[in-house]
Parts: sequence; structure tokens; C-alpha cells
Amino acid sequence: MRITTQTISRLKGERPIVAVTAYDAVMAGYADAAGVDLILVGDSVGTTQLGYDSTVPVTLDMMVHHTAAVARVKPKALVVADIPFAIAHDDFSALLSACRRLMQEAGAEAVKIEGDASMAPAIARLTNAGIPVWGHIGLLPQNFHQLGGYRKFGRNQAEKSSLLADALAFQEANCFAVLCEMVNPKVTAAITEELKVPLIGIGSGVDCDGQILVSNDMLGLNSGYIPSFVKQYAKLGDQARKAFAAYADDVRNRKFPS
Ligand code: KIV
Repeated sequence: MRITTQTISRLKGERPIVAVTAYDAVMAGYADAAGVDLILVGDSVGTTQLGYDSTVPVTLDMMVHHTAAVARVKPKALVVADIPFAIAHDDFSALLSACRRLMQEAGAEAVKIEGDASMAPAIARLTNAGIPVWGHIGLLPQNFHQLGGYRKFGRNQAEKSSLLADALAFQEANCFAVLCEMVNPKVTAAITEELKVPLIGIGSGVDCDGQILVSNDMLGLNSGYIPSFVKQYAKLGDQARKAFAAYADDVRNRKFPS
């Protein structure tokens, strides 16, 4: 059975939701075959696949291209696409037309929007128009240059109160779920308790309604920085390096083709 946004919302309190990122048909196929609930075509495609230092350079055209590749697999999992840098803060028609491209042209079933409570009115207009939205709070990687890097959120009472207000505003705007990134686990637990919709965490502890990981990180496909909260379930990068070296060796020694 295909997983819908309603399925994701209903899973709260039933069992933890499993989400991962994927950026192409191959990885989406593997993740879907493993039975994940949600595949996010994240703008992390910029840092994991396209060689950028942050998600800021990722454009809508890039998101459409990668989302379409994932959607072509027709996964059972829900396919969500990220709204890339700054579009959510443009006028509403730019945001609406980005959603239209990601859903009509690329085949996403929902969009993810980074922001705080100030985004709630625009999100409410989208959800009223039948566009399912996953709100993203806490560390917002698109603010990379403003933050001067990445850090934890929810470190004091003021941050805790504003994260809770952001999550409640997104729920009020009819988000089907909220994602919290790099939030103090005690704060995450409190927000999970307050929300009626699922809170899916990354680097935010165990007390959420589900978890998401960046596939390149969990598969050991990145050679650079790996966040400390990531559990690596494979070392595919090491295997690829060894395979390329063995191939080069075989060709140079005329062992391939045999
Ligand atoms: O783009 C992305 O991969 C994300 C992660 C937080 C899951 O938003």
C-alpha cells in the first residue's frame, strides 16, 4: 500500500516513522525496497552529490531534476521535495509556482519548507490549496551564511519557547508533520508531547515520532564531514574506492578484460 501524508500523520503514537533522503532513482529504489516510510529529496543534494559547501546554491531546477528521478521509481514511500533557498520568502506566487513545478512536473507528493512561525501564513495558504507541507524547524541549513555554520538549537529557555511556538504554528497551518534538526533532545521530547502531528528528528535525540538521516551519511558515501549523531550502517565509500583501485590495477596489468 502506498504511503500518503495521512498515513504519516496517523503513525504518531503507533510506531516510529522511518525517513531517509534520496536524490536519484537508484538510491530511492533501494530505500523503498527496504520499506522506509518517507523519501525526502533534500536540498542536501547540493552538499552530498553536487560538491557545494552548503545547500544555498541549490536551485529549483536542480530540485525538479532530482525529484523527478526519485518519483520515476514510483516508490511506495511518500516522496517529499525540499523548497530550495529563499523561495519560501519570495512572494506567495513564486512559492506556489515552485510547489506546482515540484508536484506537477517532478512528481513530489508533498514539499518541505524550512522556517519559523513567520512562515505559517504562507504554509496555511499552501495547505488550503491542497499542497501538503512538512515544516522544518531548529537548525535551518539554508541559513548557513547567517549562522556562520551549523549549531545545536534549544540551548536555553528562550530558544525552547520559540521552537515550540514554531512547531505549534506549523501544526496550526495544517502541516502533516514537522521536522526538527539539531534540537536539544529534552526540547524535542517536550515538543513531541505537545504536538498532535508527528515530529520527525535529525540529530535531535530519540524522543520524536520518527527519524530521518541523510542517505550519504548513513551509507558512508561522504568522504568529508559526518555529523557526530549519524550512525553509519555501511561504508560504501570505502568499497567504491577499493573497487576503482582494483579495476585500475587490472586494466594496467592487462588482467581485464580476461
Ligand atoms: O535536505 C535535507 O537533507 C534535510 C535534512 C535535514 C534531512 O533537510
